[in-house]
Amino acid sequence: MKNWTRKEFLRASLLGSGAALIAGQTRLYGQVAPAAGSANGDIRVAVMGVGAQGSSHMKDYLNKLPGARLVAICDADSDHLAKQAAVCEKAGVKVKTFSDYRKMLEDKDIDAIVIGSPNHQHSIMTIRSLEAGKDVYCEKPLSHNVWEGRQAVAASKKYSKNIVMAGTQNRSSLDIMEALEYANSGKLGKIQWARGLCYKLRDSIGKTTGPQKVPDSVDYNLWTGPADLIPSRRNGPRGGPIHYDWHWFWNYGGGDIANQGIHQMDVARWFIGESSLPKSVMSIGGRFGYDDDAETPNTLISVLNYEKAPLIFEVRGLPMKPGMQAMDAYRGGRVGVVVQYEQGYITVSEGGTVNIYDNTNKAPIKALKNGGNGAHRANFVKAVQNRKVVHGLVEECHYSSAACHLANVSYLVGAEKSNAAISESINKSAEASETFDRLLAHLKANEVDVATRKSVQGPVLMIDRKTEMFVGGEKVVTDAANKSPLRKRVGRGEFTIPQISPAVAKV
Ligand SMILES: NC(=O)c1ccc[n+]([C@@H]2O[C@H](COP(=O)([O-])OP(=O)(O)OC[C@H]3O[C@@H](n4cnc5c(N)ncnc54)[C@H](O)[C@@H]3O)[C@@H](O)[C@H]2O)c1
Repeated sequence: MKNWTRKEFLRASLLGSGAALIAGQTRLYGQVAPAAGSANGDIRVAVMGVGAQGSSHMKDYLNKLPGARLVAICDADSDHLAKQAAVCEKAGVKVKTFSDYRKMLEDKDIDAIVIGSPNHQHSIMTIRSLEAGKDVYCEKPLSHNVWEGRQAVAASKKYSKNIVMAGTQNRSSLDIMEALEYANSGKLGKIQWARGLCYKLRDSIGKTTGPQKVPDSVDYNLWTGPADLIPSRRNGPRGGPIHYDWHWFWNYGGGDIANQGIHQMDVARWFIGESSLPKSVMSIGGRFGYDDDAETPNTLISVLNYEKAPLIFEVRGLPMKPGMQAMDAYRGGRVGVVVQYEQGYITVSEGGTVNIYDNTNKAPIKALKNGGNGAHRANFVKAVQNRKVVHGLVEECHYSSAACHLANVSYLVGAEKSNAAISESINKSAEASETFDRLLAHLKANEVDVATRKSVQGPVLMIDRKTEMFVGGEKVVTDAANKSPLRKRVGRGEFTIPQISPAVAKV
């Protein structure tokens, strides 16, 4: 699969109408020719899921993205739908509203779908939108589990008249592209490792005593979609019984590695330069500092081995010390990426700006601040017009999303052990050892008694990159890993995900 360089990206962004014709597409947009049924040739966009992120997309299509306009919104929560329809009306735009996205997909006056629903809906909504002949922008991660992400990629190939772009906005960062060119020119020597950092404060979501009532405004069957239809056991201050805090439950999300972390996983993997799953994965972690309803670890380290270099990922949801808001930093980064080469290293901030250092670790030898990632949504409009995705390739997002899921599977099939035993068992891996030592210091600073409190140590799981399944190792462990719903979940009833890719998953 093609990874675009910055030069190619800039050239492709300027292609415009020519690219549409070269691509041989019959549907033309924007300045090229009016889309069928569209009064002025604008791309007619609908947003699926207008919670926090979806409504931000929605607002951009109301007034910020020339060449496209909002025509419809959809949400399984009628309160969210009504609230956002009112925002549109106030902006002078009358939109169609739908509670069921499948009904919305029947509407011939919609060209493109922006998916802003929770993670567990992303793959099925991508597939159904493609089947309905729509272009798709899917928020990250692409999937809730590895298998369904592969089906979404297979759908993008099967319905290749339409385009799919992933919401990993750092893929539009001109700075990262320039840094990649610099690194690939060999000026820093060979890559040693890449490290993704997700040090982001995550408070307790509180504790309920039993199943929580679903608000009358929510169609819970639709909201649950392909996930298991089970009662809500959360009611946190931010998301209540339904919204946002689903991130911390395995049925819907994957914790912070698959939430914020997927962005940094994607950038780190981009520097490593392999369009593939890792060869192996191992995670260590736990949920420390408070006792609440959530299931996912707030503290996690994962080592993902690629051919060229290891990718180490760190999640810290606790602050520097109890009661503080400030987070630890690693080489200046809290949420970001560090890529170590023989003769220097590169840091990427949360917003996609880049510093390049030599190993003296003094002032950067290059500080890049050209921006670019803020243009990701505008780049979707261009991609639809040009019939070509330049950045935010769906298969790349699949590999990064799947990397997060695989790391979580290792954690989930792991066992609690003393921290001393864990230290001992990983002392041959310099990267894992150094990262775990820093993690223990962080937990101590948070008054976690690391001498008595255990952590979960996951096994090193080997991955067959063709079938995207776990292989080798201890059979009982490998079988358990393959049975994990984060490796494969087919969905439920009317929300069953179609198998599009052949059984040997890579197509
Ligand atoms: N790219 C980024 O930087 C970025 C930032 C924030 C969030 N996100 C992603 O955006 C997504 C949404 O996050 P959020 O914080 O807005 O979550 P949220 O829970 O606040 O909102 C999700 C919305 O989707 C709706 N929904 C659920 N099922 C639906 C269905 N079947 N049909 C229609 N609507 C449905 C919910 O009712 C809710 O209104 C997540 O996947 C998240 O990872 C991306």
